[in-house]
Amino acid sequence: MELVPLTSADEVARVGADIVEELVRRRPDAVLGLATGSTPLATYQELIARHQRGEGPAWGGVTTFNLDEYVGLPAGHEQSYLATIRRELTDPLGIDPARVHGPDPAEAGLPTAGERYEAAIAATGGVALQVLGIGTNGHLAFNEQGSSLGSPTRIKTLTEQTRRDNARFFGSPDEVPMHVLTQGIGTILRARHLVLIATGAGKAAAVAAAVEGPVSASCPASVLQLHPHATVLVDAAAAARLERLDYYAEVYAAKPVWQRH
Ligand code: PGA
Repeated sequence: MELVPLTSADEVARVGADIVEELVRRRPDAVLGLATGSTPLATYQELIARHQRGEGPAWGGVTTFNLDEYVGLPAGHEQSYLATIRRELTDPLGIDPARVHGPDPAEAGLPTAGERYEAAIAATGGVALQVLGIGTNGHLAFNEQGSSLGSPTRIKTLTEQTRRDNARFFGSPDEVPMHVLTQGIGTILRARHLVLIATGAGKAAAVAAAVEGPVSASCPASVLQLHPHATVLVDAAAAARLERLDYYAEVYAAKPVWQRH
């Protein structure tokens, strides 16, 4: 795992955007895995700003897969993650909605939704770069504590804490759906490059547990330690509880230019 200690959330967004763009320049038909939530928004805004200035790569050939989706929202609800990713990233980049995918939360199809999503991802050749956030409790996508480290896409029940964390997008915690479909930890581990983004003091304990704690279902994000190519971008506040921070900074400063990203 590579821990990249950056100073500010803006710098995290710039480096996150650099990593995504570098892939899309090299592979215009890249398959991206996308996280929603607040943290990646600054990276997405940076990508959109560069695109609007004519500095970005060509986005027309990119295919995307969301990490997760709420179950039980009315179709087309603005907080559905498919609507969110289209609004916050893929529409402004001009990516055809037909190339933008999320788990299908329609009630009648729930028993097979996970399998169908796995098959859709596999049919593209798999996710090349997966953008990830981390929950304050260490969850990864909506894989809450105790999730199987080999899990596929499936239905999960949110914890009270996650529903409280996400209530800011809804009127109240009660309006946050109880169920979700989420890529499993096994699904996420199949992506070829994982880029986890964490900013702010609220994430410091979860980042420390994920990066320096034991690999454990009690901190699902700790599975990044098992992945051959995982990058963790943090600002100073999110890095504050890391014991080996000085070493990560030395490694990053001494990184050979050819090895960037
Ligand atoms: P956040 O969510 O980026 O909105 O903090 C992250 C997560 O829950 O994985």
